[in-house]
Amino acid sequence: HAADAHRTDLMTITRHVLNEQSKYPESRGDFTILLSHIVLGCKFVCSAVSKAGLAKLIGLAGETNVQGEEQKKLDVLSNEVFVKALISSGRTCILVSEEDEEATFVEPSKRGRYIVVFDPLDGSSNIDCGVSIGTIFGIYLVKDKDNPTLDDVLQPGTNLLAAGYCMYGSSCTLVLSTGSGVNGFTLDPSLGEFILTHPHIKIPKKGKIYSVNEGNAKNWDEQTTKFVEKCKFPTDGSPPKSLRYVGSMVADVHRTLLYGGIFLYPADKKSPNGKLRVLYEVFPMSYLMEQAGGQAFTSKQRALDLVPKKIHERSPVFLGSYDDVEEIKALYAAAE
Ligand code: AHG
Ligand code: MN
Ligand code: MN
Ligand code: MN
Repeated sequence: HAADAHRTDLMTITRHVLNEQSKYPESRGDFTILLSHIVLGCKFVCSAVSKAGLAKLIGLAGETNVQGEEQKKLDVLSNEVFVKALISSGRTCILVSEEDEEATFVEPSKRGRYIVVFDPLDGSSNIDCGVSIGTIFGIYLVKDKDNPTLDDVLQPGTNLLAAGYCMYGSSCTLVLSTGSGVNGFTLDPSLGEFILTHPHIKIPKKGKIYSVNEGNAKNWDEQTTKFVEKCKFPTDGSPPKSLRYVGSMVADVHRTLLYGGIFLYPADKKSPNGKLRVLYEVFPMSYLMEQAGGQAFTSKQRALDLVPKKIHERSPVFLGSYDDVEEIKALYAAAE
């Protein structure tokens, strides 16, 4: 069974991707090389996070990012590691990071065909107290590698080639989809390899958990208010849902993917577009949810159909179990 296979037939993330890529005869291994550099970045951040408290890597970096957030030392360090790893892969031409105001256009001699959008460290508010945090990424193809423009980045999430996240929690787990389902890999520190531990992840069709920052309830619109009310006081005789909210999107989404339920970051009066960023939070997580049989909605449309106009644009997002998202879609549709 799985444990024995693990011992002798090591299915590492690199082997798994090579298997998947072998379906595309034209692939020249570029994607596998790109992914191996993303994996390298994740291994580095995993190690830095695990000794952050010891290595004085907690606390503020003394800078503020384009989001108006005070950058933590790990935000800055993780960003530098991923930018360097991605450029040195020689397979990227445009990089968009939460921590960089402008997109990075890779110099021609190191340019490849891929665009990577990423949140190098997600859940920064949880770093100093040791609660799970993560990295989120999405991968697109560039139209013309010799003439990359910002338009190449401002495309709908439906064009994503691949997306994933790495969660730095009790174990280091990398969840990835390259368009044919979702697979989870756990870092085996003794090997320094991500091993396939969660093949073909499928999100339960309906869940018993809702995940939202109830502290914003005063500012929610009436559809979100009604939906959350129904979670707490069901009118169909079903038991109330449980509330689980970590405050790191990667942790809240990972639990939703494995256990089912719904994750909400709605718009509110203070932030009419919600808080989460389209390119490197909403799109990758929405892509994974659809690949796992769930769905993702913005209060107006299917999340992946959004076409961002700016690289740090935000959107409300409701994602998770198919049936749970259907319920909130019905409430917004009724309000049309
Ligand atoms: P980041 O740390 O990359 O800026 O992202 C934080 C995000 C996301 O991880 C989480 O879901 C959300 O902020 C939590 O926001 P609230 O604290 O407003 O609930
Ligand atoms: Mn941030
Ligand atoms: Mn984030
Ligand atoms: Mn971040």
